[in-house]
Amino acid sequence: STQFAVFGHPIGHSLSPRIHQAFARQFGIELDYRAIDAAPADFIAAVQRFFAEGGRGANVTLPHKAAAFALAATRSEAASRAGSANVLTRLPDGRLAAHNTDGAGMVRDLTERHDMDLRGHTALLLGAGGAAHGVAWNLLDAGVATLTIVNRSPEAADVLADAIGDPARAHTRYWEDLASIGSYDLIVNATSAGVLGAALQLPFSLVGSRALCYDLSYGAAAGSFLTWARTAGARSAFDGLGMLVETAADAFELWHGQRPDTGPVYQSLSQPAA
Ligand code: ATR
Repeated sequence: STQFAVFGHPIGHSLSPRIHQAFARQFGIELDYRAIDAAPADFIAAVQRFFAEGGRGANVTLPHKAAAFALAATRSEAASRAGSANVLTRLPDGRLAAHNTDGAGMVRDLTERHDMDLRGHTALLLGAGGAAHGVAWNLLDAGVATLTIVNRSPEAADVLADAIGDPARAHTRYWEDLASIGSYDLIVNATSAGVLGAALQLPFSLVGSRALCYDLSYGAAAGSFLTWARTAGARSAFDGLGMLVETAADAFELWHGQRPDTGPVYQSLSQPAA
């Protein structure tokens, strides 16, 4: 029976099976890891069937992260504050535990792989949906001086800022005002625009002279934001591939009790396919 899986919709292009197989090889583990496509209406039943038939752990990606959080019996602190889960584990009594490793994975990618120090940075978070909720607290924990949340619909930005509840550090601005709110040291694109094939029309004035720009998505979906960042003169611009590999490592450790080496896996995925 299938022991590990990633649930998403669509799921065909997911890198998670490759990443987990590469981790498993580091430890000589024979891994059964599948990609399972579940439409939103079928997600809960598909997860329950998977765990009932012997599943031990699941990764969860778009659009199921909130549903995964909701169906779990216990939730990590990171999952609770984000209101979403990217990892499910089966407890000894058969109930499910929800985890969210997205924010920790992003910060580790930035600070350890890319050697960036976020402390004291003024940070701009574009978007206030599930992805933004997954990273906002971790940016604050990593020591950014301020977190400015800007979302196309302002209500969602207010919801996130209120949930953080630290008005001295985390506050909102209007999307319409992006051209007049000055520049930032760190700009995180947490919108789904790239995934949806839409280009954000962002002013270059947002990019400070030593700015670091990061897109939570990877590959083609991150292309337009990273091109904008480099054109605007950002010091560095990264997509979220490293975050994906780091979050996978956290899931792997939860399930297998061993910490994989993410470096070579990231390296091989960032090379163009042979
Ligand atoms: P995810 O889990 O990827 O965050 P989501 O919860 O649906 O997905 O959130 C999508 C985010 O991308 C939202 O912040 C959304 O803005 P709205 O709240 O105004 O919808 C943002 N977004 C999507 N397409 C966008 C676009 N073309 N321009 C600006 N923001 C966009």
